[in-house]
Amino acid sequence: MSETPQKNSFTRREFLGLAWLGALGLGALKLLEVLGKTTLPRRPKGAFGGEFEVGTLAELPKAGDPPLAFPAGRFWLVHSETGLLALHRACTHLDCLVSWDDGSQKFVCPCHGSEFGPQGDCLQGPATRSLDRFPLRVVTPEGQVAAQSDASGAPLPVEALVNGEQAEVAPESLVMVDTAQKIPGASVG
Ligand code: FES
Repeated sequence: MSETPQKNSFTRREFLGLAWLGALGLGALKLLEVLGKTTLPRRPKGAFGGEFEVGTLAELPKAGDPPLAFPAGRFWLVHSETGLLALHRACTHLDCLVSWDDGSQKFVCPCHGSEFGPQGDCLQGPATRSLDRFPLRVVTPEGQVAAQSDASGAPLPVEALVNGEQAEVAPESLVMVDTAQKIPGASVG
């Protein structure tokens, strides 16, 4: 006795139903992605990936003083004549932690010998990029942002904030470093 062949193709209604479910699923995923970006908590203050208080304007090292290490934040705080910088401690070759050598006035990588100038400029390879930077901002006791790094991470001229002729910012204003936003160092050549 011959059997009736089974019909295994989708009906138009089934196909439309599946397509609708698929579109709904994609929409839900997109919504989750947006919510995740806007509502996920940032890393806490004082942990790498979060924001660090490095002290008040009055407490900063003087321009030209040796860089100050912040091991928990994985950065060096550098106060040069042109302003304040937060340099990522990770070498741009293979991420070893660079040290400051006061004698040669350079950051030196213990792994393969890359060298970087006081502002993180790549002086010697195998690294091919300057040290990455983290943005800084100065927040007054009233909670106003008095100054902040630009997108290039150029040194923040904090000296002028307190001693400049025009701008007067309270010396008690806090200096913050945001380790969530790495600004890539410039490539050599
Ligand atoms: S990791 Fe720094 S030179 Fe290789």
